[in-house]
Amino acid sequence: MTDVAAKPTDSLTVRDNRTGQEYDIAITDNTIAAKDLGQIRVGEDDPGLATYDPGFVNTASCRSAVTFIDGDKGILEYRGYPIEQLAEKSTFLEVAYLLIHGELPTKEQYENWVHEITYHTFVHENVKEFVQGFRYDAHPMGMLMASVGALSTFYPEAVNIADADNRHMQMVRMIAKMPTLGAWSFRHAQGKPFVYPDNDLSYTENFLSMLFKMSESKYVADPRIAKALDVLLILHADHEQNCSTNAVRSVGSSQVDPYSAVAAGVGALFGPLHGGANEAVLRMLKRIGSKENIPAFIEGVKNGDERLMGFGHRVYKNYDPRAKLIKKACDDVFEVTGVNPLLEIAQELEKIALEDEYFVKRRLYPNVDFYSGLIYEALQFPPEMFTVLFAIGRTPGWLAQWNELITDKEQKIARPKQIYTGDRELTFVPAEERWA
Ligand code: CMC
Repeated sequence: MTDVAAKPTDSLTVRDNRTGQEYDIAITDNTIAAKDLGQIRVGEDDPGLATYDPGFVNTASCRSAVTFIDGDKGILEYRGYPIEQLAEKSTFLEVAYLLIHGELPTKEQYENWVHEITYHTFVHENVKEFVQGFRYDAHPMGMLMASVGALSTFYPEAVNIADADNRHMQMVRMIAKMPTLGAWSFRHAQGKPFVYPDNDLSYTENFLSMLFKMSESKYVADPRIAKALDVLLILHADHEQNCSTNAVRSVGSSQVDPYSAVAAGVGALFGPLHGGANEAVLRMLKRIGSKENIPAFIEGVKNGDERLMGFGHRVYKNYDPRAKLIKKACDDVFEVTGVNPLLEIAQELEKIALEDEYFVKRRLYPNVDFYSGLIYEALQFPPEMFTVLFAIGRTPGWLAQWNELITDKEQKIARPKQIYTGDRELTFVPAEERWA
């Protein structure tokens, strides 16, 4: 019998019914260390008990001080600051500084940071040549993924990841150059000439200039549009251990350079269950076409024919706080561009879904991608560009998490276990005998 009173309170007592043996496993920060289960074994040859967790639904892969989420309450904080306050009162570059450095900048630190980012927006001329080498109809996310990865060949010193100054330089470069790469992917797909960065402009104004400038000598963005885009970038800047951040950390754990690690993040973000959802939402709304078709569409979703894109989240089981803020940004943008006619369908879809038992029971609410596509479309972005905007916004988050990983003594190369289900010890018969 276990003497419960003698056990440390922050521990778990596990009884292995195969052997009758009991083990005390420490609980720290409401988790147990998976490696502690390794001592639970039935014999000498047994490698020990492991956990099985496809999709990491209940496994912490790191300690992190970057972003806090309470999915039940719909809370999101970057370095402790609520997203609502940052979206209203900060700027994307200040948020980027906060995420990477862990605290808000002084005036001098902020000015230096903005100066550094602004003066690294240009890319090597060779980048222009290889972006031009993509097919005319190449997806801009494919181009972005390839070109951010290719930056590692321009900055071979980026492999010196143990050097803090060197890491800083690459992080600055990446935040600075992502809009240039994203804008050039867009211009290439449109068959338009590339626009060089304009260092007199703010981060978001310069991005808009590289996207939309034609023959005018200076592109002047509507300040309401520039502000709305800046807010959208802030809302996307980090989201703790999501699929793409996990990809960045996983690839970064091999100690590769950060450009290669971020290229992996861009790849993960491209998928329709992650950043690609905003593109999928817009296509879905266009397919639904009018409010009358919504009930039939919802029935199809409930029958499992497809998913209601832009709804549901692994972590939020409440309204995604970013979706609320995006709805507000929608109003600001539509004031300039006129209302996107798909908004009516989206709002009706949301209303019906939020009252339907299927969605209520599964706690499915609109996520960040539900309304963002409507804004992007109003800003004249084709759907293929939506995830590129997400990637530019997420870059400081990926880098903050990568930097944290590199300086975390507890981290190791990511290498999960498997449960092997295949054959064993077969005898190989050469092809000429098998086919005889
Ligand atoms: N439409 C219909 N049913 C859904 C949806 C949806 N959008 N999302 C989840 N469900 C159902 C799912 O079928 C399952 O039902 P059941 O229990 O009967 O099998 C239940 O809800 C739980 O779903 P899950 O797939 O186990 O949940 P998950 O945590 O693995 O997936 C998700 C999360 C975001 C991938 C999923 O909700 C989804 O596919 N949503 C649509 C895509 C989307 O909007 N993605 C953007 C996510 S937010 C931004 C980002 O991270 O990039």
